[in-house]
Amino acid sequence: MTDAAAAETSFLPVVVAIDGPAAAGKGTLARGLAARLGLAYLDTGSLYRAVGAKLLAEGGDPADAETAAAVARALVPADLGRPDLRSEAVGTAASQVAANPRVRAALLAFQRDFAASPPDGKAGAVLDGRDIGTVVCPDAPAKLFVDASVEIRARRRMEELQQGGGDAIYAAVLADLKERDARDRNRADAPLKPADDAELLDTTDLGIEEALERALAIVQRKTGLAVTKQA
Ligand code: DC
Repeated sequence: MTDAAAAETSFLPVVVAIDGPAAAGKGTLARGLAARLGLAYLDTGSLYRAVGAKLLAEGGDPADAETAAAVARALVPADLGRPDLRSEAVGTAASQVAANPRVRAALLAFQRDFAASPPDGKAGAVLDGRDIGTVVCPDAPAKLFVDASVEIRARRRMEELQQGGGDAIYAAVLADLKERDARDRNRADAPLKPADDAELLDTTDLGIEEALERALAIVQRKTGLAVTKQA
């Protein structure tokens, strides 16, 4: 085999795994990292949200394990562009279907394929979710666990909802986040937790820019990737 052929066969996309609870800032950081490092980005929560949204739209019950698994198996990429994915109702349904091992199994291959063959010929991918560093991509060279106090997460989520024209009450958003955290952390299959080799990033007292600079420094140290696009 020539050196060039050997280099081609040994090319492995770089995977950056970002996990953490709802509204900790994972999505903003993951998108920012992908943009600055020239990597593809997958919001894996949108897969669970798409399953929840389709189920609700069909009048199904997210607690019905068989139907939820069938919806997950039939998911197509266009479902990830549904306009209703960010609603609170869909978020709650997503958290319920995410506790179903058959739903998780059905969505695993999609996530691993994305990491192994990032679209548009990108050199790697950033995936954010709850179990990327522990289950989906346990060999990722860079793993971040992004966290923040539940009170600050509730405040950020409320501002997001209000900016979207919604009407949000702090106490209700806080209660919903606590319930979702408990479900994500305590489920038997792939619970939310930091991988042993994850770096923790607490964004409670950080603005978006500062959090992104810190995340970038960690990922560059772990992967040797260079910034391809300045902020
Ligand atoms: O990040 P998010 O709020 O969009 O995620 C919606 C739900 O999906 C969340 O309650 C947990 C679940 N989820 C998961 O279990 N595993 C992932 N990798 C991503 C999301």
